Amino acid sequence: MSSHAAAPEAPRAIEADGLVGEAPPSPAGPAPDDGAPTGLPPALPLPRALQTLRFSIRQIEFVFRARRELGDVFQLRGIVGDDVDVVTSHPDHVRSLFTAKPEEAPSLTGESPLRPIVGPNSVLTAIGPRHMRQRKLLLPLFHGDAVQRYTQMIAEAADREIDRWPVGTPFKLAPRMQAITLDVIMSGIFGIEGDPARGTPEHGLRRAVRRVLALSTRPEAQLAELLNLGRDEPVGLTRVVLGFLDRSLYAVISARRAAPDHDERRDILSILLDAETEDGERLTDRELRDELLTLVLAGHETTANSLAWTFERLLRHPAAYERLRDVARSDDDPDGYIEATIHEGMRSRPVIPIIGRRVRVPWRVGDYTVPAETSVLMSILLLHHRDDLYPDPFAFRPERFIGRKPGTYTWIPFGGGIRRCLGAALAMAEQRVVLREIARRTDLLAPDPYPERARHRNVTMIPSAGARVVMSSRTA
Ligand code: HEM
Repeated sequence: MSSHAAAPEAPRAIEADGLVGEAPPSPAGPAPDDGAPTGLPPALPLPRALQTLRFSIRQIEFVFRARRELGDVFQLRGIVGDDVDVVTSHPDHVRSLFTAKPEEAPSLTGESPLRPIVGPNSVLTAIGPRHMRQRKLLLPLFHGDAVQRYTQMIAEAADREIDRWPVGTPFKLAPRMQAITLDVIMSGIFGIEGDPARGTPEHGLRRAVRRVLALSTRPEAQLAELLNLGRDEPVGLTRVVLGFLDRSLYAVISARRAAPDHDERRDILSILLDAETEDGERLTDRELRDELLTLVLAGHETTANSLAWTFERLLRHPAAYERLRDVARSDDDPDGYIEATIHEGMRSRPVIPIIGRRVRVPWRVGDYTVPAETSVLMSILLLHHRDDLYPDPFAFRPERFIGRKPGTYTWIPFGGGIRRCLGAALAMAEQRVVLREIARRTDLLAPDPYPERARHRNVTMIPSAGARVVMSSRTA
Protein backbone atom coordinates (compact mmCIF):
# COMPACT_ATOMS: atom_id res chain seq x y z
CA MET A 1 0.00 0.00 0.00
CA SER A 2 1.36 3.46 -0.77
CA SER A 3 2.28 5.77 2.12
CA HIS A 4 -0.31 8.18 0.76
CA ALA A 5 -3.12 5.67 1.29
CA ALA A 6 -1.87 4.53 4.71
CA ALA A 7 -1.37 7.94 6.30
CA PRO A 8 -4.92 8.79 7.46
CA GLU A 9 -5.47 5.32 8.96
CA ALA A 10 -3.24 5.67 12.02
CA PRO A 11 -5.11 8.29 14.12
CA ARG A 12 -8.45 6.64 13.35
CA ALA A 13 -7.43 3.29 14.76
CA ILE A 14 -6.12 4.92 17.93
CA GLU A 15 -9.39 6.73 18.43
CA ALA A 16 -11.34 3.48 18.39
CA ASP A 17 -8.99 1.66 20.77
CA GLY A 18 -10.64 0.23 23.86
CA LEU A 19 -14.13 0.58 22.39
CA VAL A 20 -14.18 -2.80 20.67
CA GLY A 21 -12.84 -6.01 22.20
CA GLU A 22 -12.87 -9.80 21.87
CA ALA A 23 -14.89 -12.62 23.37
CA PRO A 24 -13.19 -15.66 24.97
CA PRO A 25 -13.35 -18.70 22.65
CA SER A 26 -16.28 -21.12 22.94
CA PRO A 27 -16.76 -24.52 21.23
CA ALA A 28 -19.25 -24.54 18.36
CA GLY A 29 -20.24 -26.49 15.24
CA PRO A 30 -21.39 -29.97 14.19
CA ALA A 31 -20.74 -32.38 17.07
CA PRO A 32 -18.37 -35.31 16.41
CA ASP A 33 -20.28 -38.50 15.69
CA ASP A 34 -19.09 -40.26 18.89
CA GLY A 35 -22.47 -41.10 20.37
CA ALA A 36 -22.01 -38.55 23.20
CA PRO A 37 -25.36 -37.57 24.74
CA THR A 38 -27.13 -34.45 23.60
CA GLY A 39 -28.88 -32.04 25.93
CA LEU A 40 -30.49 -28.67 26.13
CA PRO A 41 -29.41 -25.59 28.06
CA PRO A 42 -31.59 -24.29 30.93
CA ALA A 43 -34.69 -22.16 30.42
CA LEU A 44 -36.23 -19.43 32.55
CA PRO A 45 -38.69 -20.94 35.04
CA LEU A 46 -41.81 -19.68 33.25
CA PRO A 47 -44.70 -21.60 31.66
CA ARG A 48 -44.36 -22.14 27.90
CA ALA A 49 -47.19 -19.77 27.00
CA LEU A 50 -45.74 -17.02 29.12
CA GLN A 51 -42.29 -17.51 27.60
CA THR A 52 -43.69 -17.18 24.10
CA LEU A 53 -45.75 -14.14 25.03
CA ARG A 54 -42.93 -12.35 26.85
CA PHE A 55 -40.53 -13.15 24.05
CA SER A 56 -42.92 -11.81 21.38
CA ILE A 57 -43.91 -8.65 23.22
CA ARG A 58 -40.95 -7.81 25.43
CA GLN A 59 -38.06 -9.59 23.74
CA ILE A 60 -35.44 -7.21 25.09
CA GLU A 61 -36.30 -7.66 28.77
CA PHE A 62 -36.70 -11.39 28.20
CA VAL A 63 -33.37 -12.07 26.52
CA PHE A 64 -31.33 -9.80 28.79
CA ARG A 65 -32.88 -11.45 31.86
CA ALA A 66 -32.26 -14.92 30.44
CA ARG A 67 -28.61 -14.15 29.71
CA ARG A 68 -28.12 -12.60 33.15
CA GLU A 69 -29.64 -15.60 34.93
CA LEU A 70 -28.62 -18.45 32.61
CA GLY A 71 -25.53 -17.39 30.66
CA ASP A 72 -24.64 -17.11 26.98
CA VAL A 73 -26.75 -20.08 25.89
CA PHE A 74 -30.30 -20.69 27.04
CA GLN A 75 -33.48 -22.40 26.01
CA LEU A 76 -36.66 -20.74 24.85
CA ARG A 77 -39.69 -22.97 25.18
CA GLY A 78 -42.13 -22.59 22.31
CA ILE A 79 -45.88 -22.62 22.63
CA VAL A 80 -46.42 -25.51 20.21
CA GLY A 81 -45.78 -29.10 21.28
CA ASP A 82 -42.15 -29.91 21.96
CA ASP A 83 -40.90 -27.01 19.92
CA VAL A 84 -37.61 -25.88 21.47
CA ASP A 85 -35.38 -23.00 20.52
CA VAL A 86 -31.89 -22.47 21.80
CA VAL A 87 -30.68 -18.88 21.95
CA THR A 88 -27.04 -17.87 21.79
CA SER A 89 -25.10 -14.63 21.59
CA HIS A 90 -21.53 -15.86 21.32
CA PRO A 91 -19.59 -14.90 18.16
CA ASP A 92 -18.02 -18.39 17.84
CA HIS A 93 -21.50 -19.94 17.76
CA VAL A 94 -22.58 -17.35 15.21
CA ARG A 95 -19.55 -18.15 13.07
CA SER A 96 -20.32 -21.89 13.18
CA LEU A 97 -23.86 -21.28 11.93
CA PHE A 98 -22.95 -18.72 9.26
CA THR A 99 -20.23 -20.94 7.82
CA ALA A 100 -22.16 -24.23 8.13
CA LYS A 101 -22.96 -26.32 5.07
CA PRO A 102 -26.42 -25.16 3.94
CA GLU A 103 -27.89 -28.64 4.36
CA GLU A 104 -26.59 -28.86 7.94
CA ALA A 105 -28.03 -25.58 9.19
CA PRO A 106 -30.70 -24.16 6.85
CA SER A 107 -32.17 -20.75 7.60
CA LEU A 108 -35.33 -20.37 9.61
CA THR A 109 -36.56 -17.70 7.21
CA GLY A 110 -38.23 -20.60 5.40
CA GLU A 111 -40.65 -20.47 8.34
CA SER A 112 -40.91 -16.66 8.27
CA PRO A 113 -44.24 -14.86 8.86
CA LEU A 114 -43.76 -13.47 5.36
CA ARG A 115 -44.05 -16.93 3.84
CA PRO A 116 -47.82 -16.88 3.24
CA ILE A 117 -47.40 -13.50 1.52
CA VAL A 118 -44.32 -14.03 -0.64
CA GLY A 119 -44.78 -17.77 -1.10
CA PRO A 120 -42.45 -20.65 -0.25
CA ASN A 121 -40.10 -20.15 -3.19
CA SER A 122 -38.80 -16.61 -2.97
CA VAL A 123 -35.14 -15.97 -2.17
CA LEU A 124 -36.15 -15.31 1.43
CA THR A 125 -38.27 -18.39 2.01
CA ALA A 126 -36.63 -21.03 -0.20
CA ILE A 127 -33.92 -23.26 1.22
CA GLY A 128 -31.29 -25.48 -0.37
CA PRO A 129 -30.38 -25.40 -4.09
CA ARG A 130 -33.51 -23.46 -4.97
CA HIS A 131 -32.45 -20.67 -2.64
CA MET A 132 -28.95 -20.55 -4.11
CA ARG A 133 -30.35 -20.31 -7.63
CA GLN A 134 -32.49 -17.30 -6.74
CA ARG A 135 -29.70 -15.69 -4.78
CA LYS A 136 -27.22 -15.96 -7.63
CA LEU A 137 -29.75 -14.36 -9.93
CA LEU A 138 -30.44 -11.42 -7.64
CA LEU A 139 -27.02 -10.81 -6.07
CA PRO A 140 -25.49 -8.82 -8.97
CA LEU A 141 -28.44 -6.42 -8.87
CA PHE A 142 -27.57 -5.45 -5.31
CA HIS A 143 -23.82 -5.28 -5.64
CA GLY A 144 -22.09 -2.12 -4.34
CA ASP A 145 -21.52 -0.72 -7.86
CA ALA A 146 -25.08 -1.48 -8.89
CA VAL A 147 -26.53 0.53 -6.01
CA GLN A 148 -24.09 3.37 -6.53
CA ARG A 149 -26.24 4.66 -9.34
CA TYR A 150 -29.17 5.08 -6.94
CA THR A 151 -27.35 7.68 -4.84
CA GLN A 152 -28.69 10.70 -6.69
CA MET A 153 -32.22 9.35 -6.67
CA ILE A 154 -32.04 8.66 -2.91
CA ALA A 155 -30.79 12.20 -2.20
CA GLU A 156 -33.66 13.65 -4.24
CA ALA A 157 -36.23 11.50 -2.42
CA ALA A 158 -34.75 12.61 0.93
CA ASP A 159 -34.79 16.29 -0.06
CA ARG A 160 -38.40 16.15 -1.26
CA GLU A 161 -39.39 14.60 2.04
CA ILE A 162 -37.41 17.00 4.25
CA ASP A 163 -39.06 19.95 2.46
CA ARG A 164 -42.43 18.71 3.74
CA TRP A 165 -41.55 18.59 7.44
CA PRO A 166 -43.11 21.13 9.82
CA VAL A 167 -40.86 23.49 11.77
CA GLY A 168 -41.41 23.59 15.53
CA THR A 169 -44.10 20.87 15.73
CA PRO A 170 -43.29 17.33 16.92
CA PHE A 171 -43.65 14.55 14.37
CA LYS A 172 -42.69 10.90 14.01
CA LEU A 173 -39.58 10.30 11.99
CA ALA A 174 -40.23 6.59 11.24
CA PRO A 175 -43.15 7.13 8.80
CA ARG A 176 -41.18 9.95 7.13
CA MET A 177 -38.28 7.56 6.63
CA GLN A 178 -40.71 5.01 5.19
CA ALA A 179 -41.90 7.54 2.65
CA ILE A 180 -38.29 7.89 1.47
CA THR A 181 -37.56 4.17 1.39
CA LEU A 182 -40.82 3.56 -0.49
CA ASP A 183 -39.75 6.07 -3.16
CA VAL A 184 -36.38 4.36 -3.40
CA ILE A 185 -37.93 0.91 -3.73
CA MET A 186 -40.50 1.96 -6.31
CA SER A 187 -37.77 3.52 -8.36
CA GLY A 188 -35.01 0.94 -7.85
CA ILE A 189 -37.17 -2.16 -8.10
CA PHE A 190 -39.92 -1.14 -10.47
CA GLY A 191 -38.44 1.89 -12.22
CA ILE A 192 -41.40 3.99 -11.08
CA GLU A 193 -40.34 7.59 -10.42
CA GLY A 194 -42.46 10.06 -8.42
CA ASP A 195 -46.24 9.77 -8.70
CA PRO A 196 -47.16 7.94 -11.94
CA ALA A 197 -50.15 9.10 -14.01
CA ARG A 198 -53.56 7.91 -12.81
CA GLY A 199 -54.95 4.93 -14.63
CA THR A 200 -51.51 3.48 -15.48
CA PRO A 201 -50.53 0.05 -14.10
CA GLU A 202 -47.68 1.82 -12.24
CA HIS A 203 -50.10 4.12 -10.43
CA GLY A 204 -52.19 1.14 -9.34
CA LEU A 205 -49.11 -0.70 -8.14
CA ARG A 206 -47.85 2.20 -6.06
CA ARG A 207 -51.21 2.50 -4.34
CA ALA A 208 -51.41 -1.25 -3.78
CA VAL A 209 -47.91 -1.43 -2.31
CA ARG A 210 -48.79 1.38 0.08
CA ARG A 211 -51.91 -0.48 1.18
CA VAL A 212 -50.05 -3.70 1.83
CA LEU A 213 -47.38 -1.89 3.80
CA ALA A 214 -49.98 0.00 5.84
CA LEU A 215 -51.80 -3.24 6.51
CA SER A 216 -48.68 -5.11 7.55
CA THR A 217 -48.33 -2.65 10.45
CA ARG A 218 -51.87 -3.23 11.80
CA PRO A 219 -52.02 -5.40 14.92
CA GLU A 220 -54.89 -7.58 13.66
CA ALA A 221 -52.94 -8.46 10.51
CA GLN A 222 -49.95 -9.44 12.61
CA LEU A 223 -52.07 -11.62 14.81
CA ALA A 224 -53.57 -13.29 11.75
CA GLU A 225 -50.07 -13.87 10.39
CA LEU A 226 -48.89 -15.29 13.69
CA LEU A 227 -51.78 -17.74 13.73
CA ASN A 228 -51.16 -18.53 10.09
CA LEU A 229 -47.50 -19.48 10.57
CA GLY A 230 -46.40 -22.50 8.61
CA ARG A 231 -49.06 -22.15 5.90
CA ASP A 232 -48.42 -21.09 2.35
CA GLU A 233 -51.51 -18.94 1.79
CA PRO A 234 -52.51 -15.63 3.36
CA VAL A 235 -55.72 -15.25 5.37
CA GLY A 236 -58.34 -12.57 6.12
CA LEU A 237 -57.74 -8.97 5.25
CA THR A 238 -54.19 -9.71 4.12
CA ARG A 239 -55.62 -12.00 1.47
CA VAL A 240 -57.98 -9.32 0.15
CA VAL A 241 -55.36 -6.59 0.03
CA LEU A 242 -52.81 -8.96 -1.49
CA GLY A 243 -55.29 -9.88 -4.24
CA PHE A 244 -55.44 -6.21 -5.16
CA LEU A 245 -51.65 -5.95 -5.11
CA ASP A 246 -51.21 -9.08 -7.21
CA ARG A 247 -53.51 -7.75 -9.93
CA SER A 248 -51.53 -4.50 -10.08
CA LEU A 249 -48.21 -6.29 -10.00
CA TYR A 250 -49.11 -8.69 -12.79
CA ALA A 251 -50.43 -5.74 -14.84
CA VAL A 252 -47.08 -3.97 -14.46
CA ILE A 253 -45.15 -7.15 -15.30
CA SER A 254 -47.11 -7.74 -18.50
CA ALA A 255 -46.96 -4.07 -19.52
CA ARG A 256 -43.20 -4.13 -18.98
CA ARG A 257 -42.75 -7.34 -20.95
CA ALA A 258 -44.55 -5.71 -23.85
CA ALA A 259 -42.65 -2.41 -23.60
CA PRO A 260 -40.22 -1.98 -26.50
CA ASP A 261 -37.54 -0.40 -24.26
CA HIS A 262 -37.58 -2.87 -21.38
CA ASP A 263 -34.16 -4.31 -22.21
CA GLU A 264 -32.64 -0.83 -21.89
CA ARG A 265 -34.18 -0.10 -18.51
CA ARG A 266 -32.04 -0.48 -15.40
CA ASP A 267 -34.67 -1.23 -12.77
CA ILE A 268 -34.69 -4.64 -11.13
CA LEU A 269 -37.99 -5.77 -12.65
CA SER A 270 -36.80 -5.06 -16.19
CA ILE A 271 -33.48 -6.82 -15.57
CA LEU A 272 -35.19 -9.84 -14.02
CA LEU A 273 -37.56 -10.16 -16.97
CA ASP A 274 -34.63 -11.23 -19.11
CA ALA A 275 -32.47 -12.87 -16.46
CA GLU A 276 -31.76 -16.57 -16.79
CA THR A 277 -30.94 -19.05 -14.06
CA GLU A 278 -27.87 -21.28 -14.38
CA ASP A 279 -30.07 -23.80 -16.17
CA GLY A 280 -30.97 -21.20 -18.77
CA GLU A 281 -34.51 -20.74 -17.51
CA ARG A 282 -36.42 -17.48 -17.16
CA LEU A 283 -38.53 -16.64 -14.13
CA THR A 284 -42.25 -17.22 -14.52
CA ASP A 285 -44.63 -14.35 -13.70
CA ARG A 286 -45.46 -16.00 -10.39
CA GLU A 287 -41.77 -16.30 -9.50
CA LEU A 288 -41.18 -12.70 -10.51
CA ARG A 289 -44.09 -11.60 -8.35
CA ASP A 290 -42.74 -13.51 -5.34
CA GLU A 291 -39.23 -12.09 -5.68
CA LEU A 292 -40.35 -8.52 -6.22
CA LEU A 293 -42.73 -8.59 -3.31
CA THR A 294 -40.00 -10.09 -1.11
CA LEU A 295 -37.70 -7.22 -1.98
CA VAL A 296 -40.39 -4.63 -1.24
CA LEU A 297 -41.33 -6.17 2.10
CA ALA A 298 -37.79 -7.01 3.23
CA GLY A 299 -36.32 -3.68 2.24
CA HIS A 300 -38.82 -1.04 3.21
CA GLU A 301 -39.58 -1.07 6.91
CA THR A 302 -36.15 -2.37 7.91
CA THR A 303 -34.19 0.46 6.34
CA ALA A 304 -36.68 3.11 7.45
CA ASN A 305 -36.66 2.01 11.07
CA SER A 306 -32.92 1.62 11.13
CA LEU A 307 -32.64 5.29 10.19
CA ALA A 308 -35.33 6.25 12.69
CA TRP A 309 -33.48 4.42 15.48
CA THR A 310 -30.17 6.05 14.61
CA PHE A 311 -31.75 9.49 14.99
CA GLU A 312 -33.52 8.41 18.17
CA ARG A 313 -30.06 7.53 19.57
CA LEU A 314 -28.28 10.58 18.16
CA LEU A 315 -30.75 13.04 19.64
CA ARG A 316 -30.05 11.59 23.07
CA HIS A 317 -26.28 11.78 22.58
CA PRO A 318 -25.61 15.44 21.78
CA ALA A 319 -21.84 15.12 21.27
CA ALA A 320 -22.29 12.43 18.60
CA TYR A 321 -25.12 14.39 16.95
CA GLU A 322 -23.06 17.57 16.87
CA ARG A 323 -20.06 15.82 15.35
CA LEU A 324 -22.30 14.26 12.71
CA ARG A 325 -23.80 17.63 11.79
CA ASP A 326 -20.34 19.21 11.56
CA VAL A 327 -19.19 16.47 9.21
CA ALA A 328 -22.35 16.60 7.08
CA ARG A 329 -22.17 20.38 6.78
CA SER A 330 -18.48 20.56 5.94
CA ASP A 331 -18.86 17.96 3.18
CA ASP A 332 -15.60 16.49 4.44
CA ASP A 333 -15.63 13.22 6.34
CA PRO A 334 -12.01 12.03 6.53
CA ASP A 335 -12.67 9.65 9.46
CA GLY A 336 -15.78 8.08 7.97
CA TYR A 337 -17.95 9.40 10.80
CA ILE A 338 -21.20 9.03 8.88
CA GLU A 339 -20.53 5.36 8.20
CA ALA A 340 -19.40 4.84 11.82
CA THR A 341 -22.64 6.42 13.07
CA ILE A 342 -24.69 4.03 10.95
CA HIS A 343 -22.68 1.07 12.20
CA GLU A 344 -23.19 2.16 15.81
CA GLY A 345 -26.90 2.80 15.22
CA MET A 346 -27.32 -0.70 13.81
CA ARG A 347 -25.26 -2.18 16.61
CA SER A 348 -27.25 -0.60 19.40
CA ARG A 349 -30.67 -0.97 17.76
CA PRO A 350 -30.64 -3.86 15.27
CA VAL A 351 -34.02 -3.66 13.52
CA ILE A 352 -34.11 -7.43 13.19
CA PRO A 353 -33.05 -8.46 16.69
CA ILE A 354 -32.89 -12.22 16.19
CA ILE A 355 -32.30 -14.71 13.35
CA GLY A 356 -31.98 -18.46 13.29
CA ARG A 357 -30.90 -21.69 11.67
CA ARG A 358 -32.29 -25.19 12.17
CA VAL A 359 -29.44 -27.58 12.83
CA ARG A 360 -29.97 -30.89 11.05
CA VAL A 361 -27.27 -32.68 13.02
CA PRO A 362 -26.29 -32.51 16.73
CA TRP A 363 -24.57 -29.16 17.24
CA ARG A 364 -22.10 -27.91 19.79
CA VAL A 365 -23.21 -24.60 21.27
CA GLY A 366 -20.70 -23.77 24.00
CA ASP A 367 -21.16 -26.22 26.90
CA TYR A 368 -24.10 -27.97 25.25
CA THR A 369 -24.54 -30.38 22.37
CA VAL A 370 -28.08 -29.76 21.20
CA PRO A 371 -30.00 -32.46 19.30
CA ALA A 372 -30.57 -32.47 15.54
CA GLU A 373 -33.62 -30.43 14.45
CA THR A 374 -33.20 -27.83 17.22
CA SER A 375 -33.65 -24.28 16.01
CA VAL A 376 -30.69 -22.26 17.14
CA LEU A 377 -31.44 -18.55 17.36
CA MET A 378 -28.75 -15.90 17.31
CA SER A 379 -29.77 -12.90 19.38
CA ILE A 380 -28.27 -10.03 17.44
CA LEU A 381 -29.34 -7.71 20.21
CA LEU A 382 -27.47 -9.65 22.92
CA LEU A 383 -24.41 -10.19 20.75
CA HIS A 384 -24.25 -6.44 20.07
CA HIS A 385 -24.46 -5.75 23.81
CA ARG A 386 -21.67 -8.03 25.03
CA ASP A 387 -19.37 -5.97 27.15
CA ASP A 388 -16.32 -8.02 26.17
CA LEU A 389 -16.96 -7.11 22.52
CA TYR A 390 -18.28 -3.60 23.07
CA PRO A 391 -17.14 -2.08 26.38
CA ASP A 392 -19.90 0.06 27.90
CA PRO A 393 -22.33 -1.49 25.41
CA PHE A 394 -25.31 0.71 26.23
CA ALA A 395 -23.41 3.89 25.38
CA PHE A 396 -23.85 5.23 21.83
CA ARG A 397 -20.34 5.76 20.49
CA PRO A 398 -19.82 5.90 16.73
CA GLU A 399 -16.09 6.23 17.52
CA ARG A 400 -16.04 2.46 18.09
CA PHE A 401 -16.20 2.01 14.35
CA ILE A 402 -13.82 4.73 13.26
CA GLY A 403 -10.95 3.11 11.38
CA ARG A 404 -12.41 -0.30 12.10
CA LYS A 405 -14.59 -2.45 9.92
CA PRO A 406 -17.39 -4.12 11.87
CA GLY A 407 -16.60 -7.80 12.54
CA THR A 408 -18.27 -10.47 10.41
CA TYR A 409 -19.41 -12.43 13.47
CA THR A 410 -19.62 -9.64 16.04
CA TRP A 411 -21.71 -7.08 14.12
CA ILE A 412 -24.52 -8.88 12.35
CA PRO A 413 -27.55 -6.61 11.77
CA PHE A 414 -27.67 -8.03 8.22
CA GLY A 415 -27.18 -11.64 9.33
CA GLY A 416 -24.46 -13.58 7.55
CA GLY A 417 -23.17 -16.43 5.44
CA ILE A 418 -25.17 -17.51 2.42
CA ARG A 419 -28.30 -15.90 3.89
CA ARG A 420 -26.74 -12.50 4.52
CA CYS A 421 -29.15 -9.71 3.64
CA LEU A 422 -29.24 -9.29 -0.12
CA GLY A 423 -30.09 -5.62 0.18
CA ALA A 424 -27.32 -4.71 2.63
CA ALA A 425 -25.40 -2.53 0.16
CA LEU A 426 -28.59 -0.72 -0.85
CA ALA A 427 -29.63 -0.28 2.80
CA MET A 428 -26.21 1.14 3.65
CA ALA A 429 -26.30 3.51 0.66
CA GLU A 430 -29.77 4.70 1.65
CA GLN A 431 -28.75 5.28 5.24
CA ARG A 432 -25.54 7.09 4.26
CA VAL A 433 -27.32 9.50 1.92
CA VAL A 434 -30.42 10.09 4.05
CA LEU A 435 -28.49 10.50 7.32
CA ARG A 436 -26.19 13.02 5.68
CA GLU A 437 -29.03 15.00 4.07
CA ILE A 438 -31.00 15.23 7.29
CA ALA A 439 -27.92 16.14 9.36
CA ARG A 440 -26.88 18.72 6.77
CA ARG A 441 -30.23 20.41 6.30
CA THR A 442 -32.03 20.19 9.63
CA ASP A 443 -31.65 20.75 13.34
CA LEU A 444 -33.64 18.17 15.25
CA LEU A 445 -34.50 17.85 18.94
CA ALA A 446 -36.02 15.03 20.93
CA PRO A 447 -39.32 16.26 22.43
CA ASP A 448 -38.84 13.72 25.22
CA PRO A 449 -35.35 13.27 26.72
CA TYR A 450 -36.01 9.64 27.70
CA PRO A 451 -35.06 6.88 25.27
CA GLU A 452 -37.91 5.39 23.27
CA ARG A 453 -38.69 1.81 24.15
CA ALA A 454 -38.59 -0.87 21.51
CA ARG A 455 -41.77 -2.37 20.12
CA HIS A 456 -41.85 -5.62 18.17
CA ARG A 457 -43.70 -5.67 14.88
CA ASN A 458 -43.56 -8.91 12.91
CA VAL A 459 -39.86 -9.75 12.91
CA THR A 460 -38.72 -6.18 13.46
CA MET A 461 -37.89 -4.08 16.50
CA ILE A 462 -38.99 -0.48 16.06
CA PRO A 463 -39.04 2.70 18.19
CA SER A 464 -42.28 2.62 20.20
CA ALA A 465 -43.21 6.26 19.55
CA GLY A 466 -41.97 6.23 15.94
CA ALA A 467 -38.81 8.23 16.82
CA ARG A 468 -40.52 11.54 17.62
CA VAL A 469 -38.59 14.69 16.77
CA VAL A 470 -39.04 18.44 16.56
CA MET A 471 -37.32 20.23 13.70
CA SER A 472 -36.15 23.60 15.03
CA SER A 473 -34.71 24.79 11.72
CA ARG A 474 -34.10 23.75 8.13
CA THR A 475 -31.84 25.01 5.40
CA ALA A 476 -32.30 24.65 1.65
C1 HEM B 1 -31.32 -1.65 7.43
C2 HEM B 1 -32.00 -2.41 6.59
C3 HEM B 1 -32.01 -3.90 6.58
C4 HEM B 1 -31.76 -4.79 7.59
C5 HEM B 1 -31.40 -4.48 9.03
C6 HEM B 1 -31.90 -6.12 7.03
C7 HEM B 1 -31.68 -7.29 7.74
C8 HEM B 1 -31.76 -8.56 7.20
C9 HEM B 1 -31.52 -9.78 7.94
C10 HEM B 1 -31.13 -9.85 9.42
C11 HEM B 1 -31.68 -10.83 7.10
C12 HEM B 1 -31.57 -12.32 7.44
C13 HEM B 1 -30.13 -12.73 7.34
C14 HEM B 1 -29.78 -14.07 7.94
O1 HEM B 1 -30.65 -14.87 8.32
O2 HEM B 1 -28.55 -14.35 8.03
C15 HEM B 1 -32.05 -10.26 5.80
C16 HEM B 1 -32.30 -11.01 4.67
C17 HEM B 1 -32.73 -10.46 3.48
N1 HEM B 1 -32.87 -9.12 3.18
FE1 HEM B 1 -32.47 -7.57 4.40
N2 HEM B 1 -32.25 -6.01 5.71
C18 HEM B 1 -32.33 -4.67 5.38
C19 HEM B 1 -32.61 -4.14 4.14
C20 HEM B 1 -32.92 -4.86 3.02
C21 HEM B 1 -33.17 -4.32 1.71
C22 HEM B 1 -33.11 -2.83 1.36
C23 HEM B 1 -33.49 -5.36 0.88
C24 HEM B 1 -33.86 -5.38 -0.59
C25 HEM B 1 -34.39 -4.41 -1.25
C26 HEM B 1 -33.38 -6.57 1.68
C27 HEM B 1 -33.59 -7.85 1.19
C28 HEM B 1 -33.33 -9.01 1.89
C29 HEM B 1 -33.48 -10.34 1.31
C30 HEM B 1 -33.96 -10.67 -0.10
C31 HEM B 1 -33.09 -11.26 2.31
C32 HEM B 1 -33.05 -12.79 2.20
C33 HEM B 1 -31.66 -13.21 1.79
C34 HEM B 1 -31.47 -14.71 1.71
O3 HEM B 1 -32.13 -15.44 2.46
O4 HEM B 1 -30.62 -15.16 0.90
N3 HEM B 1 -33.04 -6.24 2.96
N4 HEM B 1 -32.08 -8.88 5.89
